[in-house]
Amino acid sequence: MSGKVHIARRHDSALKHVTGQALYIDDMPEPPGTLHGALVLSRVACGKLVRLDSEAAKAMPGVVAVLGPQDIPGRNDIAAIGKNEPLFAVDRIEFAGQTLAMVVANSLDAARAAAARVIVEIEAEEPVLDIAAALARESYVQAPATILRGDPEAAMAAAPHRLTAEFSVGGQEHFYLESQIAFALPGEDGDITVHSSTQHPTEVQHVCARVLGCDFNQVTAVVRRLGGGFGGKESNASWVAAAAVVAANHTGRPVKLRLPREVDMVTTGKRHGFDYRYTVGFDDEGRVLALDAVLAADAGWSLDMTPGVVTRALTHTDNAYWIPHFRAVGYACRTNKQSNTAFRGFGGPQGVVVMEDALDRIAHHLGRDPVEVRALNFYAEGRDETPYGQTVDENHLERCWAEVKAGGEIERRRAEIDAFNAANPVLKRGLGLFPLKFGISFNLPHMNQAGALVHVYTDGSIRLNHGGTEMGQGLFIKVAQVVAEVFQVDVERIRPSATSTAEVPNTSPTAASTGSDLNGWAAWDAANTIRSRMVAFAAEHFGVAEADIAFADGTVRIAKPGSNQVLTFGELARLCWLGRVSLSATGYYKTPKIHWDPAAMHGRPFFYFSFGAAMAEVAIDTLTGESRVLRADLVQDCGESLNPAIDLGQIEGAFVQGQGWLTCEELWWDASGRLRTAGPSTYKIPGSRDVPPIFNVKLLENAPSREATIFRSKAVGEPPLMLATAVWTALKDAIGAVGGGKVAVRLDAPATPERVLAAVEQVRREARTAAP
Ligand code: MTE
Ligand code: MOS
Repeated sequence: MSGKVHIARRHDSALKHVTGQALYIDDMPEPPGTLHGALVLSRVACGKLVRLDSEAAKAMPGVVAVLGPQDIPGRNDIAAIGKNEPLFAVDRIEFAGQTLAMVVANSLDAARAAAARVIVEIEAEEPVLDIAAALARESYVQAPATILRGDPEAAMAAAPHRLTAEFSVGGQEHFYLESQIAFALPGEDGDITVHSSTQHPTEVQHVCARVLGCDFNQVTAVVRRLGGGFGGKESNASWVAAAAVVAANHTGRPVKLRLPREVDMVTTGKRHGFDYRYTVGFDDEGRVLALDAVLAADAGWSLDMTPGVVTRALTHTDNAYWIPHFRAVGYACRTNKQSNTAFRGFGGPQGVVVMEDALDRIAHHLGRDPVEVRALNFYAEGRDETPYGQTVDENHLERCWAEVKAGGEIERRRAEIDAFNAANPVLKRGLGLFPLKFGISFNLPHMNQAGALVHVYTDGSIRLNHGGTEMGQGLFIKVAQVVAEVFQVDVERIRPSATSTAEVPNTSPTAASTGSDLNGWAAWDAANTIRSRMVAFAAEHFGVAEADIAFADGTVRIAKPGSNQVLTFGELARLCWLGRVSLSATGYYKTPKIHWDPAAMHGRPFFYFSFGAAMAEVAIDTLTGESRVLRADLVQDCGESLNPAIDLGQIEGAFVQGQGWLTCEELWWDASGRLRTAGPSTYKIPGSRDVPPIFNVKLLENAPSREATIFRSKAVGEPPLMLATAVWTALKDAIGAVGGGKVAVRLDAPATPERVLAAVEQVRREARTAAP
């Protein structure tokens, strides 16, 4: 067998994950003298810090120091892209959960007990706690952004039909199993190594250097694996690491800072909740002629990564649909809450829901089938340019749609569901379909680059390092498969190693689903450099042409007239070493073809699009508002998958995570601005019983990427999360059945039992008064 890619292989740490042998940072042996950190937090959402008294805390047993802004040797600023996001608050209090100080002590218990004894006085002010209040005050973290094409006003005025609607979606807690953690180990001359559970080691390095006031080369950030990131460890891991290095620097001892779940949840940003208002113009058949939409995001108190999230929401408002006249305006509302951040989909999920809502309303208004109205509006030949100027190439929408409908037996099930609903007054079932187009690449072109470092040792074993981080998504095994393919050796011969800013510098975060696209190519480049050197050496050594040398099955075959010679890969490696050939190389990749004008919001931000389709069936209980997903059928385009087993897991996991966002995961702040859903007892993530009992997931077959992606594969990390939009659509369908389909349904997300019940009541009320 020769192929190493396009093969289902289990995650390289799968057995270690399930047996508890995979080492996370908190499992690392602690050197003697290790100290533990505990944070002191604001319980007030907005105000002025007037007193912070740590005398009592300092006197507690085991306490070594209580650190505040005055103990930061460099700059008290941990902002990812903006400025002025203090590590420890100085004067202004911006949200309940803001970090004021940190206790370091000999034990975790001692640190936490002392942190509770720090006396804090804050002069409270009226906080801004929701999007509406921020919009009313024009309180933004950045200027509004607009994507515009054509003349939406004129097109709207001329359209045979118009509808206006509003709705909202909530945020989402990442709920990675491993909460935020960093372990800082001071070295000599002020050098420091920080083990961080981060998606962005380079940013950890930069932010730590900034707070320490040292050069980047003095800080090494190391990441073996994360116990989940989901976007929540792109920027937020940096301040946790920064706090740990400040303490390690101050005490000269190793310092570990691990946030308890509640602290993690009240301090770190989440998915942005959005409020929407849109007007859509359309013709008699349901063809969309114009869209004019406002998307208002809850940014929380600071910039963090909100600009990127808003841009991705705006560039995904079109989703799968051709909209000739288009305007989408994105507001980034500043509220006194946790600063919202990246979360799987990065604004894409909040963008695609707009047209899904609009098309349901259009179909309802015209009395047409929402499934057909969707397909009528798909991007197609001759109507394939997005409102921001990128051509929709390699359009798999029709294929995905047809496959999901056929696989889900749509006609039979639609009839079955309608019959069920006619016969059952209490339980109602619903069906929802969703097509997906998702752009792959970081919106900022410069971020689309990656490096790798490959060593071949003289026994033929290989060490692989690259800039990507492993958070459970299977990046390491995929990249190892790429290297195995280049050398034609068993993937077991390749040892993935911890990501480190000392090995591959100046990296981008592992995010935007680009991990394998970028690092796969970079590792390919490094491996190919070494392979080329080995081939050149072997040709000379054996006196053959380079074309006569073939790598296969862990061996190297030298085709010589009369006598073929076969060496193991290790034997050739050793020969190369004896021949003084370097067996180590760096590799590099930058994504071609992409460009973006952020002022005009125009360009080709994405190297390619990933497509998909979903069909979901739900049941609701109209007396309690409870709902279940009964069945989901998904088709996801992964190009020619590097590893179909990993991709399948990504699709299933992403879908259920999306389902959680849209149904059961509700963030709730009290009137004073304190997050009260700060643990699993009050914040409900989907559990194993929420997984659809019938769950058919297919990778789109025979769909190699037309662009030169690594072995024609496509990214998979985020896109399938959006497929869960079908669940939301299905819930609206089920709720609509309560009124016999007579009224349009507004269903804000998350569609908790309360919201479903309220929507049912509204439909009942309106159906009574609606014309027959
Ligand atoms: N899968 C697991 N198991 N854990 C995670 O934290 N993060 C998701 C996705 N899949 C995540 C995951 C997010 S937000 C992104 S951007 C991608 O993985 C990042 O990895 P990739 O680019 O290698 O796909
Ligand atoms: Mo993923 S939200 O891009 O880390």
